[in-house]
Amino acid sequence: MRLNKLPKEQVIRKSNVSITSVKTKKEAKAVVIKEAGFPFKLPVMDVSNLEVSNKELFEIYAKEQWIGSLVVEGNYLFDQRILPDFAFKIITAYPNNSVIGENTSIVFLSDDNKKNDIKVRSDLSLDDVVGQEKAKTKCKVIMKYLKDPEKFADWAPRNILFYGVSGTGKTMLAKALSNELDVSLYLIKATNLIGDHVGDGASSIHDLFEKAGKNSPSVIFIDEIDAIGLHRKYQSIRGDVSEIVNALLAEMDGISTNDGIVTIAATNNPEQLDYGIRSRFEDEFEFTLPDEKERIAIFNKYMDTLPIAIKPTAKQLAKLTKGFSGRDIKEKVLKSSFHRAISEESDEITNEHVKYALSNYYRENDSPKNMFA
Ligand SMILES: Nc1ncnc2c1ncn2[C@@H]1O[C@H](COP(=O)(O)OP(=O)(O)O)[C@@H](O)[C@H]1O
Ligand SMILES: [Mg+2]
Repeated sequence: MRLNKLPKEQVIRKSNVSITSVKTKKEAKAVVIKEAGFPFKLPVMDVSNLEVSNKELFEIYAKEQWIGSLVVEGNYLFDQRILPDFAFKIITAYPNNSVIGENTSIVFLSDDNKKNDIKVRSDLSLDDVVGQEKAKTKCKVIMKYLKDPEKFADWAPRNILFYGVSGTGKTMLAKALSNELDVSLYLIKATNLIGDHVGDGASSIHDLFEKAGKNSPSVIFIDEIDAIGLHRKYQSIRGDVSEIVNALLAEMDGISTNDGIVTIAATNNPEQLDYGIRSRFEDEFEFTLPDEKERIAIFNKYMDTLPIAIKPTAKQLAKLTKGFSGRDIKEKVLKSSFHRAISEESDEITNEHVKYALSNYYRENDSPKNMFA
């Protein structure tokens, strides 16, 4: 049956949604899905790594069976034909909470995209990161190395670890580094390596290093490495985590000094890192919370980009935010006050808006008496 000939009643009968919801919902413009597997597994059902060989055909196939279905991000669509009950997770629905119609474009996000093609592009530079001078100096050395690996002979930088409080610029610095170098950054969140199937993580690590090697010079950035690099005593929680750790160690050892690959890992919990992994890092850099001077610099940097004016000065704000990270400054102070101002239809962020944003962090009594006095 041709898709566009599908009579309305039939469209509705095919879906699991009630007629009223279909009638009132908008047609989806686009839906992005990825495989999520079966709700349960029999030994004969091992269909991991579904591959779509013809995207156009897949789209027609998908649309025919799901036309009329409600699409909500995070929900699932189930295949009813080739792999009955195989689930696809809805990653993006545009608009969210709409209905698949004749004109909806359905995109299958392949496992490959999900895993390692996470090349990151940004327009950050090292100087955008306020403070963290030692780590930045090391990044400058890495830049020199990646531009001219030969020069370093056996003395190349290879594996370095960024650790410290969350929100202090570890991920940001890695992005800035790759941007300045114009080399590929392979950014992977260690939590994503723990896949649905035992062995997924280990093969992801292998793929990652292989791709980085082919495209060298490159930087591999393993964010939140504690998720897999847990101390052995925690590894038993997930059977395959130790397998991932071993794969990582093998790959890290396999890079020779002139391959033009540098691995940077980041963690908020260095104490929990497996010793075997931690010892592979030749250098560790602690990311610290910004001091007052640095907070002023961070406020200035982000205040400039606010869409409306702001009354309190960076200096005043820095005084009130001891112990805040760069992320806190941006999200909890500036963004919250800005949103407060918008909600009041104000075209300036006032002291009151900032007070409101900070009220979550200061209890009535310990709020500085002369806040903005
Ligand atoms: N030192 C800093 N200088 C400038 N901005 C910062 C700094 N630290 C954090 N930020 C802001 O906070 C965001 C989150 O920081 P991020 O690098 O993800 O922290 P981490 O990886 O250490 O948890 C950054 O994208 C940036 O906007
Ligand atoms: Mg981070």
